[in-house]
Amino acid sequence: MKQGWLPAHTLLTNDPPAHRRFRSLVNKAFTPRRVALLEPSIRTIASELIDSFIGAGRVELVHQFAVPLPLTVIADALGVSRNDMTTFKRWSDDAVAPIGGMIGPERELECARSGLEFQRYFARELDQRRDHPRDDILTDLLNARLENERPLDTGEMLNMLQQILVAGNETTTSLIASAMLLLLQHPGHLDALRADPARIPNFIEEALRFESPVQGLSRVAKIDAQVGGVPIPAGAQLVLMYGSANRDERHFAHPEKFKIDREDAREHFAFGGGIHYCLGAPLARLEAKIGFELLLARLGEIRPTANLNDFTHTPSFTLRGLKALHLEFVATRL
Ligand code: HEM
Repeated sequence: MKQGWLPAHTLLTNDPPAHRRFRSLVNKAFTPRRVALLEPSIRTIASELIDSFIGAGRVELVHQFAVPLPLTVIADALGVSRNDMTTFKRWSDDAVAPIGGMIGPERELECARSGLEFQRYFARELDQRRDHPRDDILTDLLNARLENERPLDTGEMLNMLQQILVAGNETTTSLIASAMLLLLQHPGHLDALRADPARIPNFIEEALRFESPVQGLSRVAKIDAQVGGVPIPAGAQLVLMYGSANRDERHFAHPEKFKIDREDAREHFAFGGGIHYCLGAPLARLEAKIGFELLLARLGEIRPTANLNDFTHTPSFTLRGLKALHLEFVATRL
């Protein structure tokens, strides 16, 4: 087998018209309608995770719930073994660590090695699907044809898989953890959601606005433009700060207030915008909604465990995620 594959540009770092060709291949798998079919299995996965800690009356929510929930869902969708999830999590962490721009050369090397392991694992899985097709995203990618012509090459498939795996995990984990912390900081909201779970989807939107898991991303201006009176020449390197847009007082009234009933909460930029708008937004929304429906139905009197939390975030320039969240609770439904 090859040592590794050069980075390909398929989705996040690609431009039209090529971007559209790659994007149309994966759009089908992530439409709200297709994602809704996953609801029963997401519910089962979330329930089983809660089963695993509810008897203890305490949980470290990040690693016992917010990490494994999206990881298991995406492992199932890709069609790879749940037994390998610890490794996926490491690959996922190592893929995003360099983006934060806050690691040293040793760690960079470790992350590069991890990327190679990822490629070799998934290249092997793809080879297996060539001989034994299955009902999963890996097989879909093998069967895909760019504009009904050529199949994807292995480097392109690996690049798409890496984006689906990485983009889907870290971000959804961060959303669930920060949304829970926001509820603990606003106990009135917690009671309101428990009394009326139909308000959970808007609460999720407000959490995305308020604590955007992707605070910003680098982009290059393709054409001369002007934003807010500032001229931006073609070729300029920019960082689009979604987190800042989401606190823009010209758009959101009292943006520094967390309000689960904010009427325009869904107008946030936490999933970006335009042609690169997050592919996994329907999936992330559904996972967070089901997660909170079950957590709030089964855990009562939730509070942060004294002396265990420092509420620090993983160091990163662009991503925002709590390192850990230790909670205590009273089980209301075992
Ligand atoms: C709360 C969870 C999530 C957040 C906050 C988030 C955020 C984002 C953002 C900001 C972008 C860039 C959009 C732009 O450039 O305008 C993006 C793109 C993307 N996201 Fe997500 N994401 C989340 C979950 C997911 C999930 C679950 C998946 C996996 C299925 C996923 C897959 C992708 C992919 C593949 C792209 C690149 C799309 C393209 O360039 O066409 N994301 N996401």
